[in-house]
Amino acid sequence: MLRTLVVYQSKYGTTQKVAEYLSLVLGPGRYLTPAEFKDEYQDFDLVIVGSPIYSGQPLPEISKFLEDHAEWLKGKKVALFSISIDLKEGYEKLGDMETVIGEAVSKRALGGTLKLGVLDEDDQQDLKVFSKMVGFPLQDMDLFKLEEVLEYALELKKIRDDMIPTLPRVELKDAVESFLKSHNTCTLSTSYQERVRSTPIEYTYHQEHLYLLSEGGEKFANLLLNNQVSVAVYEDYTTMNNLAGMQITGEAALVEDEDEYQDIIAMKGLNLDMIRNLPFNMNIIKIKVNRIEFLYSEFIKKGFGPKQILNFD
Ligand SMILES: Cc1cc2nc3c(=O)[nH]c(=O)nc-3n(C[C@H](O)[C@H](O)[C@H](O)COP(=O)(O)O)c2cc1C
Repeated sequence: MLRTLVVYQSKYGTTQKVAEYLSLVLGPGRYLTPAEFKDEYQDFDLVIVGSPIYSGQPLPEISKFLEDHAEWLKGKKVALFSISIDLKEGYEKLGDMETVIGEAVSKRALGGTLKLGVLDEDDQQDLKVFSKMVGFPLQDMDLFKLEEVLEYALELKKIRDDMIPTLPRVELKDAVESFLKSHNTCTLSTSYQERVRSTPIEYTYHQEHLYLLSEGGEKFANLLLNNQVSVAVYEDYTTMNNLAGMQITGEAALVEDEDEYQDIIAMKGLNLDMIRNLPFNMNIIKIKVNRIEFLYSEFIKKGFGPKQILNFD
């Protein structure tokens, strides 16, 4: 699995919080300050470096880290982020940081916070001088948006996932489909606003779709309002060397067309009359599979990473 290193420096905690959240979403990962850095971390695959902006500059610890480690960072995928009140300034400084380490895979200026009451005396003084100089209003400000940070984390995850050495598509699709066909129970997760629901349910996989029979239930209260679903199919955990499980992203629909309903019942090897004679309606959920993230230790034996991603059109 590709690993992510987040190197940050922070005075009042905002940049630290961002580093922690990025490392959570991009795990396996580690977030640390330049003082905690060890050479062994050079083996990490994606490196993210973040600094707050103070009086128009990134913190010296981060500038020094980039200069001291420029050589190996030039050969890495590096993303840079800044935390500041003035985002335009953040982007300018990210440009300067980038010149030290070569082209970054991503640069993002994120909003910071300013709480005058917590600043030490030096920073209060600096801020007064700086605010006069550039017309910065001297007041509490909060531009930190958790949603924005997590969206950025997901963007970086896409970049990181694209770095995974991939199995030839035909081979990957074969492995994915034989895993799906050799299992028959999944966890279907549906959601709408605050409501989330995971349902263990039997499925049949056929030509990039999952078909599920259901008498009804709470999941439909989500599905009818939000057709985006996540489905997990997996084996019980035994050891870290024997992992097998997939997360499927897809779009669900209720099958309403009579011909299609009958075809699916036949494809599942069920008897239509028996289904019709049940004392309640039997519904079919059809899930169009869009993407499968497959964590499968067997891929290691073929010389690839254990996590592979298959996108369907
Ligand atoms: C002394 C001082 C100077 C600052 N200078 C700038 C600045 O030049 N540009 C800016 O956009 N934000 C500036 N800020 C706002 C910080 O970037 C913001 O407070 C940030 O969230 C700090 O991150 P941290 O909590 O990780 O240290 C300044 C804040 C202080 C206290």
